[in-house]
Amino acid sequence: MKSLIVYSSRTGNTRAVAEAVKEAFPEPCTLAPVEEAPAVDDYDVIAIGYWVDKGMPDAKAKTFMEKIKGKKVGLFGTLGAYPDSEHANDCRAKAEALMEGNEMLGQFLCQGRVDPKVLEMMAKVASDQHPMTDERKARIEEAKKHPNEEDFEQAKAFFRKCLKG
Ligand SMILES: Cc1cc2nc3c(=O)[nH]c(=O)nc-3n(C[C@H](O)[C@H](O)[C@H](O)COP(=O)(O)O)c2cc1C
Repeated sequence: MKSLIVYSSRTGNTRAVAEAVKEAFPEPCTLAPVEEAPAVDDYDVIAIGYWVDKGMPDAKAKTFMEKIKGKKVGLFGTLGAYPDSEHANDCRAKAEALMEGNEMLGQFLCQGRVDPKVLEMMAKVASDQHPMTDERKARIEEAKKHPNEEDFEQAKAFFRKCLKG
């Protein structure tokens, strides 16, 4: 079995999860940022990592995901929201919908620190859309601690199980 892990990451969160996920895959396994993704024909299993951008896999990951057909695919991603939130469920569903025509192995999401510059900008331009509630403040504070060692271990365990099943 030859596997490929391709990830898209703007600030490094998803890259860090991708590096952890690689430890769960047997060799030969290639890890590549989406900008340098190889042709997929040779690979039996593909894991794709994305970061959530406005409720969707980010544009680079999405473009890559849409090109994959007839493969065994696992997804992983990072987002500011809690992974057990409705928002995360919605993101998961949208990501899986992009993978139609493939065999889904599973999907792992965890929180990832949100770029402080983006938070600052959102606070300025969209305080009506994203009011700073106590709940939101707590979520942003929690996201700052992720991805952490526990996330990496969970991601590895998740993919080990997927590959066994
Ligand atoms: C432009 C932008 C849009 C985002 N949109 C969402 C979103 O809709 N939902 C969410 O939970 N997190 C959102 N986030 C947070 C990122 O998904 C999160 O911080 C992620 O871990 C970034 O991953 P990276 O470090 O691999 O780029 C957004 C971040 C940015 C910069």
